[in-house]
Amino acid sequence: MRRGVLARFADRLPLTARTPTLTLGEGDTPLIAAPRLAREIGCRFLWLKFEGQNPTGSFKDRGMVLAIAKAVEDGATAAVCASTGNTSASAAAYCAVIGIACRVVVPDGKVALGKLAQAVAHGARIVVLRGNFDEALIAVRAIAKKTGIALVNSVNPYRIEGQKTAAFEIIETLGHAPDGLALPVGNAGNITAYWKGFREAGTKPVLYGIQAAGAAPLVLGTPVAHPETIATAIRIGNPASWAGAVAARDESGGLFGKVTDDQIIEAYRMLASGAGVFCEPASAAPVAGLLQLSRAQPGRFAGQELVAVLTGHGLKDPQTAIGSAPPLGAVVAPGDLEEALR
Ligand code: F0G
Repeated sequence: MRRGVLARFADRLPLTARTPTLTLGEGDTPLIAAPRLAREIGCRFLWLKFEGQNPTGSFKDRGMVLAIAKAVEDGATAAVCASTGNTSASAAAYCAVIGIACRVVVPDGKVALGKLAQAVAHGARIVVLRGNFDEALIAVRAIAKKTGIALVNSVNPYRIEGQKTAAFEIIETLGHAPDGLALPVGNAGNITAYWKGFREAGTKPVLYGIQAAGAAPLVLGTPVAHPETIATAIRIGNPASWAGAVAARDESGGLFGKVTDDQIIEAYRMLASGAGVFCEPASAAPVAGLLQLSRAQPGRFAGQELVAVLTGHGLKDPQTAIGSAPPLGAVVAPGDLEEALR
């Protein structure tokens, strides 16, 4: 049974006797073997940590459950966040179940349809900002400061605390830490959280933080004013957890890499049609990154056990799925069996 992150990891989270019980059954996501991709990358094992199986379809639920529980413990009656989509879907769901108001600020026109549908369905009040995620985050930080409404972006330390539990699960399932772990990096909260989790467990896998080429401030070493990528979840030019990400890279002996939209779509298709796992485009970036590294240096991962974190479900972004499908992915059959069989 999925007990939820707060119950399962109570001894490693900052809970008190007054922290409300809250769960939608988050966490406990599978490590799925991907032997065909492992062969392509030239490693011994590739495991996909499929965070799309969380209740709202992304890894955000691990941190959101704690951030919302702590906000309510501290007397909040409303929460606010900026989001490229998944954070808002998660915040809206946890606010709904615990019974507080949710306000979200999203960038104009660049949020995948499934994510918006979730925020609407869970009853969040949505502000569409003419600008990008970075500008939306500046706006909600100001709103939170002025109004006292709880800010539940990953600048909230409880988000990081909750998200570190994914590292604990990987160690538990494998019986040890992997040699390396690759994940997509946008606002850089998740790479910060994984590193915290691995360190607390006394382990030190190499972290590969993969960004989209058009939104790769950490690779470039400087903020990007106008980030662009098909992977809208990580269309971020000035990550809030910059320092955390750099520390994770340096202390783990890892690297930041960037992959083009074409590479992301290649990996996205390989995952869906060759590994049976349908993730959203941003989630395919780490697999694209591992493919790129192994092609540049064959044998680089020989004998290694790697994990790629697939952060969100493919159903989040049906438009990219349909739009990037190869031609003849579907045929329109006439209403005649003989014709259709042909
Ligand atoms: N993958 C997905 C599917 C995401 O939604 C995000 C971030 C990331 C990766 C990057 O994680 O920001 O911790 O480096 N989405 C945020 C949002 C920004 O608003 O939903 P990060």
